[in-house]
Amino acid sequence: MTKLAVIYYSATGHGTAMAKRVVAAAESAGADVRLRHIAETRDPESFAQNPAWTANYDATKDKPAATGDDIVWADAVIFGTPTRFGSPASQFRTFIDSLGGLWAQGKLADKVYAAFTSSQTAHGGQETTLLALYITLMHFGGILVPPGYTDPIKFSDGNPYGVSHITGPENKNEIDEATTAALDHLAHRVVTIAGRLSVS
Ligand SMILES: Cc1cc2nc3c(=O)[nH]c(=O)nc-3n(C[C@H](O)[C@H](O)[C@H](O)COP(=O)(O)O)c2cc1C
Repeated sequence: MTKLAVIYYSATGHGTAMAKRVVAAAESAGADVRLRHIAETRDPESFAQNPAWTANYDATKDKPAATGDDIVWADAVIFGTPTRFGSPASQFRTFIDSLGGLWAQGKLADKVYAAFTSSQTAHGGQETTLLALYITLMHFGGILVPPGYTDPIKFSDGNPYGVSHITGPENKNEIDEATTAALDHLAHRVVTIAGRLSVS
């Protein structure tokens, strides 16, 4: 059974919704899945004026937060982060930067990796966020498994680098049909390829 860790940071909940969809798809593909959010580093009072951020914080704060051991445990990892100024969020990077010890021991290598993101606008940096994240995964010695255009549905969501959701002018768009299908496809692909590699 392929062990998949879904490790993500989300402020206003879009990433949480994407991560849950990935988990459901991976489980239906037969994987043993750990869902782990990356803990908020900001003081909740600093985003109290943002109801979506507060609601997502309250809904996830008591759930298990990601640790490096979740990556060590996994055969495959799907990461998620919002796009911030065209790059992964600092909360996500803080988690990544805590992994130096495991990296030095080679414990992040030889695993299958892929990622998803969201941004408010269509050309607001989704691809650069995923590519920046993938640079780190290359330093891990990870096996990148991007979706490419390996299924006709990829011509609908249009992102060969991973999966991305456009949250819209008010940051309120729910994940549409094409993005949902792309999340399902990514999860199935990562679980299938990791199984073929028998990386555990
Ligand atoms: C500091 C900051 C920087 C952002 N930078 C971008 C950006 O470069 N491009 C964009 O389209 N949206 C940008 N956004 C919007 C976020 O990408 C969007 O709110 C996020 O994808 C929502 O994901 P979440 O609900 O999982 O937190 C930014 C938001 C914040 C707070």
